[in-house]
Amino acid sequence: MSIDLQVLPSLLAADFSRLGEEIRAVEEAGTRMLHYDVMDGRFVPNISMGVPVLSAIRKVTKCHLDIHLMIVEPERYVEAFRAAGADSISVHQEASPHLHRTLSLIQSTGAMAGVVLNPGTPVHTLDDVLDLADFVLIMSVNPGFGGQKFIHGALQKVRQLDQRRRQLGLKYAIEIDGGVDASNIAEISAAGCDWFVAGSSVFHSESSATAVRDLHARAVTGRQILG
Ligand code: DX5
Ligand code: ZN
Repeated sequence: MSIDLQVLPSLLAADFSRLGEEIRAVEEAGTRMLHYDVMDGRFVPNISMGVPVLSAIRKVTKCHLDIHLMIVEPERYVEAFRAAGADSISVHQEASPHLHRTLSLIQSTGAMAGVVLNPGTPVHTLDDVLDLADFVLIMSVNPGFGGQKFIHGALQKVRQLDQRRRQLGLKYAIEIDGGVDASNIAEISAAGCDWFVAGSSVFHSESSATAVRDLHARAVTGRQILG
């Protein structure tokens, strides 16, 4: 699997009663990064997993663990998730009024720091933190649930971020999350995306390993179009 284009299976869609096996299967298909959704029932309507489950996962995988915090006051939990094994942590622009401070806090723990935009939030709201962020995550569904339909407007945001990155000479990765599948991943890649979160299209398929390989191959093809 190439270093810059990564498919990140989203564990929210995995069978929680067999998490270890589910992780092993996608690792064998070349997965280097796993996506882990934290929901609090306040910032988003759903509640998912927290710190103890992450600690358990950390023990069974060497993959990069990418933690997506969909919670209010995310700064209060950065250290706990880092201690439990997070390699990268992202917080929502909409949930973090002191975004600059929060991203710096994440980096001070040694983790990569990301900022997330909901479908209704424009890219220009990140103008003053782009030089600080290690990655920017574009939501292509409204956060809270897996299995939703890809919102096409997200593509334009990926293009804008890629353009800004070139203009400003910055190195942040661009990540997308929600409704990514075999039918759209090439187009998202062509728009300039680097990290592709995929939940249902990986774990609800007949073979998660085959799905990961297929998604990655399509992302590579899409990137060749971008040039
Ligand atoms: C949604 C989560 C996603 C979710 C994606 O709020 O942030 O990571 O697991 O699932 P799919 O790929 O099924 O849309
Ligand atoms: Zn997510």
